[in-house]
Amino acid sequence: MNQNRLKQQVAEATLSFVDDDAVIGVGTGSTVNAFIDALAASGIRIDAAVSSSEATTAKLQTIGVRAVDLNTTGSLDLYVDGADEFDPHRRLVKGGGGALTREKIVAAASRRFVCIVDQSKQVSVLGKFPLPIEVIPMARSYVAREMIRLGGQPEWREGFVTDNGNWILDVHNLDLVDPVSMEKSINELAGVVTCGLFAIRKADVVLMATENGIERF
Ligand code: 5RP
Repeated sequence: MNQNRLKQQVAEATLSFVDDDAVIGVGTGSTVNAFIDALAASGIRIDAAVSSSEATTAKLQTIGVRAVDLNTTGSLDLYVDGADEFDPHRRLVKGGGGALTREKIVAAASRRFVCIVDQSKQVSVLGKFPLPIEVIPMARSYVAREMIRLGGQPEWREGFVTDNGNWILDVHNLDLVDPVSMEKSINELAGVVTCGLFAIRKADVVLMATENGIERF
């Protein structure tokens, strides 16, 4: 089965978490796009969504769902988003699409974070996927030096600007055996907006599409 079909399957399975008239948080990426398509095809009519990126806002508009400001909604019951990696404790690496900061904010403000992935995202220990870090532009070199000190090999995602006007460093070969400590250490660095580790606020549910159906963690 190809990866797009797996994404469609997990997107359809996610619909059972969505209630009519709800305001839900919606992440970013190709798996989330499949979820938005599945939502449009379902009979479910949500009231509105808090979007984690300009790209998702545009996609939501195509199916007639309005994007609302998190400042006006209060806490959300549900946040749906993909991931670049997940481990057996439902801790994640995210930010391949560069939307990590808004994703982290919406995840933090949600009571239930349902992460939707295909089987290619499953790892026993995080860290194969380079860790994205959003930085204030003037701090790029400083944060890169600090990431070398923490054992990684940073690479500037040159030419990419986040929705918040910042830059991304993708850090290779970090030791993420203790992702909670690493998340805290990176987020303490001056100039870091946030890193793509979702270990402190991890997923509550991971739905993974496999050749043999959906697995839930
Ligand atoms: C975007 C993300 C995405 O959730 C992550 O990159 C997975 O994307 P996809 O569903 O396309 O594989 O964190 O910032």
